[in-house]
Amino acid sequence: MKFQYRDKYIATDEPIIIGLPKDPATLLNFEEVDTLLNGQLEEMVEKGILSAEFKKITATGVHIQQDYRKVVAIGLGDQEASEGTGMLEVFGTLFQYLKQCDIAEGQILMDTFEVKGQNSAEALAIMSEASIYEFYSYKTNAGPGFAETAHFSLTGTRDIKNDVAYYSTVGESIALARNFSETPPNIMTPEHMAGKIADIFSTHEHVTGEIKDEQVLEEEGYGLIMAVGKASEAKPRLVTIEYAHPEAKNHKPVALVGKGITFDTGGYSIKSKTGMPEMKYDMSGAANVIGMIHAISKMKLPVHVIAVVALAENMVDGNAMRPDDVYTSYSGQTVEVKNTDAEGRLVLGDAVFHASQYSPSIIMDFATLTGAVVAALGTERTGIFTNKSNEFLKPLMEVSEQTGEAVWQLPISDVEERNVRASAVADLTNHVEKPGRASFAACFIKQFANGTPWIHFDIAGTGTVDSPTAFGPKGATGVMIRTIVKLFETGEIHE
Ligand code: BES
Ligand code: MN
Ligand code: ZN
Repeated sequence: MKFQYRDKYIATDEPIIIGLPKDPATLLNFEEVDTLLNGQLEEMVEKGILSAEFKKITATGVHIQQDYRKVVAIGLGDQEASEGTGMLEVFGTLFQYLKQCDIAEGQILMDTFEVKGQNSAEALAIMSEASIYEFYSYKTNAGPGFAETAHFSLTGTRDIKNDVAYYSTVGESIALARNFSETPPNIMTPEHMAGKIADIFSTHEHVTGEIKDEQVLEEEGYGLIMAVGKASEAKPRLVTIEYAHPEAKNHKPVALVGKGITFDTGGYSIKSKTGMPEMKYDMSGAANVIGMIHAISKMKLPVHVIAVVALAENMVDGNAMRPDDVYTSYSGQTVEVKNTDAEGRLVLGDAVFHASQYSPSIIMDFATLTGAVVAALGTERTGIFTNKSNEFLKPLMEVSEQTGEAVWQLPISDVEERNVRASAVADLTNHVEKPGRASFAACFIKQFANGTPWIHFDIAGTGTVDSPTAFGPKGATGVMIRTIVKLFETGEIHE
């Protein structure tokens, strides 16, 4: 979507787009809007021609000099737009309406969206990308989408150009992550994904990277990643991207780690015919981590970040790992595989230990890890787990309140510590036939953090949605990108 900037309304043919609070007199530019509407703004609201109800859209026409113009208004409600994700929802709903009605140009009167406690430019920028996101699809009749053709004028007294450019990056990074997740698994193989990542970051400043292919992984002892990927023709990759801003390069990095199972059949512990479709999304943790470091590096935040994504495909063949196999992890700990469908924790074991070698101040991993977290928390809360105190989670909790990406802490305790050591033949086991599976899986990964402060995000429920929302269509969400980027932006990240 393209924008141009004006400091006041100029008469053009474009539709006029405004935000409308319950009390129009509170508008920063009441006079300007009222004059455009021939002094009838309040009457139009009273008569229900334009609605101020939160997120409700009404459209009408108005005579300006000799011409007739379209007016589109979106309700800001009483207080709703100024609370929580209110402004994001407003712009999400608005852009989705404009797209649906094919209104690809207009003059958005930004002063009508100025409400206390919200950065309307930030909300507009993020949602101009996220809300109308569409996967560049494989439909043979696909033309240029609304996002490519739309062009709006942003008219207002506040200089928002820099904010819009800055926060558009977050929207673009969400779209980037979604593109990775949506791409069919016969194309988005570990090798393909690693190659795409290398292409994308080759132009980013202060970024370096490394790709380990299957030979290197084998030689260097990444036994768990290799075990998960060995039945696939498309062999595993471990990608590390480092972003070191000059002001922060002497600080310990923050490590972001993502589960990148490009397709999860379950292996010999095979999934059912209804459980297997959608498992292309099993690399969404990795996709979102790439989205995070993409935004952070494009915004040139003064921070030091290591992103690690473990890419493998969990398939079945004569060489596949079986239940009862034992493998030696990169950390040296041995693991008995009791369920080949519990593969995410295996690749993350090696990837998290790999991340710990950079002496990070904290490791955060993101994974579509367990069905159990969905049973416990539903599809609107990400499960989080840590090896530190509850206090340690506070900055994250606060930022998540702001962004509306809800998180809920689940426990890891002696019960799980005992269960992950229940193998008769190896140091650890990846599965026991007991309930409490989200905590078990988290505890397994914890064994590879090497004592580093660590937070695990189980996004199995939040990584995708099965119907559209104001934040985007059905499918991959890019969850946690907004929250983690905000955590870095506000400097709330632990040093
Ligand atoms: N990728 C799945 C988890 C998942 C399930 C994500 C549904 C999104 C939607 C993971 O690899 C898996 O198969 N987990 C198993 C573990 C079990 C076999 C111990 C699960 O949760 O059922
Ligand atoms: Mn699985
Ligand atoms: Zn999986």
